[in-house]
Amino acid sequence: MEAKIAKPFVKWVGGKTQLLEEVRKSLPVDLHLRNNVTYVEPFVGGGAVLFWILQAYPNISRAVINDINPELICTYRVIKHNVYELITILGILQAEYIALDAENRKKYFLARRVEFNSKGVSEVRIAALFIFLNRTCFNGLYRVNSKGEFNVPHGRYAKPKICDTYNLLAVSKLLQRVEILCGDFAVTEMYAGEDVIFYLDPPYKPLSETSSFTSYSKEGFDDVEQMRLRDFCARISQLKSQFIASNSDPIEEKTGESFFEQIYCQFKIKRVSATRLINANPNNRGLVSEIMISNVL
Ligand SMILES: C[S@@+](CC[C@H](N)C(=O)[O-])C[C@H]1O[C@@H](n2cnc3c(N)ncnc32)[C@H](O)[C@@H]1O
Repeated sequence: MEAKIAKPFVKWVGGKTQLLEEVRKSLPVDLHLRNNVTYVEPFVGGGAVLFWILQAYPNISRAVINDINPELICTYRVIKHNVYELITILGILQAEYIALDAENRKKYFLARRVEFNSKGVSEVRIAALFIFLNRTCFNGLYRVNSKGEFNVPHGRYAKPKICDTYNLLAVSKLLQRVEILCGDFAVTEMYAGEDVIFYLDPPYKPLSETSSFTSYSKEGFDDVEQMRLRDFCARISQLKSQFIASNSDPIEEKTGESFFEQIYCQFKIKRVSATRLINANPNNRGLVSEIMISNVL
């Protein structure tokens, strides 16, 4: 697939860069010919699909994104409205960090993490710290404790790219046609209707009780939430929206049946392969089957 200019500005667990071709195949075949299409992404995360689709389909006139993570959404808004000040702060953070030895880099990281978790930090500073921590923490993870404090340890990258000016400017330009919301996915239902396409990429259902789990937010996303999302899909479908949803493909231990095939039996389901971290060890990656559910004919 052709490389696009604007790409995710953070590493994000569950990022969809490797599944873009599968998403493309699931979209309506006439999408590039349609005008007045609105694209809605209720679990935007790092935005791999958002940035790709807005560049691949310039005819999409309007987009709406949402995520429950307030610091992530603050960062999207700052990139949209205040990208030059953000780039200045990131440039300073990068220069200060790169100049240090390993021990002092760790101290610098921990001090920025305390600052990020403290109250009263300006929005542009939150955005800069969010990107800084993402680029310098262990594996680019985002995990919070029960108080909602970011608690990922320091990572060891020789020369992390903290300030990617070219990409931030490209992302800022794209975001000018995007409305940015922060909350539960249900807030996006008000956009459902004809000529509206939803791409839903919720936190995946863990494959087993013991699989490594990364909590994106202190609220979590259990089976009750997965069913609430299924009901949401049924409602937006009735309102004539088209949707594509991704998820893992767990098999129920007791019945041997696929959880998502059961709960989404009225929709189209297709299996795709993805390389995922299947173990706490980052070197242990494997090919897993994932599921794509849609009502696109
Ligand atoms: C699998 S990630 C999305 C990854 C994204 N497609 C990408 O390429 O980076 C799931 C996202 O859902 C968000 N999330 C979790 N619970 C949510 C909720 N109830 N409503 C909206 N967003 C939620 C998380 O903060 C996380 O960013």
